[in-house]
Amino acid sequence: MPASTGPTASLPVLVFLHGGAFFLGSGSRPYYDPTTFCEQAVKASRPHIFVSVNYRLGAMGFFHSPEASDLMPANNGLHDQSVAFEWIREFIAGFGGDPDNVTAMGQSAGAMSLSIHNLSGRDNMWQRSIQFSGSLVTMPVQSPAHHQQNFLHQAEKLGIETQRQAADAIAREMINVSADKIRDTGYVGLPCSESEMLPYQSASMALTRRRVPTSGALQSQIVASATYDGGISYNMMIGDKGRRQHANVFIQIAKDVLKHPQELLDIYGITKDEEDVAALKKICQFESDAGFFAASRALAQGSGEKATYLLLFDLGNPFNGPLPSKQYATHTWDIVALLGAYEHTLDEIYRASIRAFRDKIISYVTSGQAPWLGWTEEKGTALIVDQKGPRVVGKDVYMGHDTRRGQLLALAEKEAGQDGCDVLWSDVCRRFLMEGE
Ligand SMILES: *[C@@H]1O[C@H](CO)[C@@H](O)[C@H](O)[C@H]1NC(C)=O
Ligand SMILES: *[C@@H]1O[C@H](CO)[C@@H](O)[C@H](O)[C@H]1NC(C)=O
Ligand SMILES: *[C@@H]1O[C@H](CO)[C@@H](O)[C@H](O)[C@H]1NC(C)=O
Repeated sequence: MPASTGPTASLPVLVFLHGGAFFLGSGSRPYYDPTTFCEQAVKASRPHIFVSVNYRLGAMGFFHSPEASDLMPANNGLHDQSVAFEWIREFIAGFGGDPDNVTAMGQSAGAMSLSIHNLSGRDNMWQRSIQFSGSLVTMPVQSPAHHQQNFLHQAEKLGIETQRQAADAIAREMINVSADKIRDTGYVGLPCSESEMLPYQSASMALTRRRVPTSGALQSQIVASATYDGGISYNMMIGDKGRRQHANVFIQIAKDVLKHPQELLDIYGITKDEEDVAALKKICQFESDAGFFAASRALAQGSGEKATYLLLFDLGNPFNGPLPSKQYATHTWDIVALLGAYEHTLDEIYRASIRAFRDKIISYVTSGQAPWLGWTEEKGTALIVDQKGPRVVGKDVYMGHDTRRGQLLALAEKEAGQDGCDVLWSDVCRRFLMEGE
């Protein structure tokens, strides 16, 4: 918060939920440092209070036994987030914040969390939301039965007797185990469906689209994806010696699931026996389009009368890594660029574009005004951010009939109509990604 803020300032509040697939990360990681963001806001006379939230992750946040739910309730990690928002609602005024002027911003699993809270139908405690590369379908959710199975499996790993004890007794013993040992079970932490937080059997884009708007506090939202969100999978899989023959594995799955597999392969140029690095790059582009871009669009389609502003982040990640620098707008780089942790290392073209992009977000957070033209089915207006700076485009530019995304959406429609994007994402892409597990 700006240094001189007193308790009567009544500043807008920006609350940040970090990403990390529900099993890692923290609001205080250096790459989420918001100093640059906050300084730019102050300079533009748009002061606000930035709040970062941590929540329980992995086993601590998501172990659940439906048979012992007093001791092992569902979705602790998500409930922690709710508690944080309740705390802000109750106490932020004392820090000079306005509890009725709150924007919730999430990235990846943090953005998925916002979608879940939004869908839970419980009273939202924020007026605006910004979702970077995360939606209801970013990570899989698991049924209560699945959680119970996992609970027993993990108990066995911890050396707890599960055959002759009731769930209650097992849970009591588990709670007694040291936190370090529980962490060592390595459970990734997946939200539980059919729960208070997520009262649906499954999570899908079709559900997002069908969403009947309620009278919640939410007034408008920015929904963002990065052109190469799939870079996260590329980086994990390219070094995994246990996974080979990416093209052939992918082609087999496409043939098993789709009526028109060759059309999918043609859109991405994936060919039999293709070399692994090239094939994986293409498959992860498909992942980006099907799992992130299409999901953003589904959110926009489901938004009813609430204004949605679509953002397509297309600025190549400038840092060295498994992917060549500046060519891929990767997962997490968008939020890092926005918050500005490494701004001083970037060249001027990048800095200028990012500052202009940041200005738009700051203005939205502090005024609630439309940051650019709202999305409609007919026009599909979106903001693209790349080396040329942010600019508003119509849907022909990013999903016209002759574009890669346009062709993918047409194929989705042909495969399964309203459910087509879910088939491509869950049944084809995610199955490929999970194959090795
Ligand atoms: C919990 O741990 C304590 C100390 O190690 C032990 O005395 C107690 O019996 C344990 N309780 C259960 C339910 O396992
Ligand atoms: C949140 O719910 C509102 C309806 O209340 C809907 O317009 C919007 O699309 C939803 N947003 C997300 C991110 O799920
Ligand atoms: C939020 O704060 C800004 C800046 O003080 C103000 O312009 C805006 O009207 C406020 N919005 C609401 C809903 O109070």
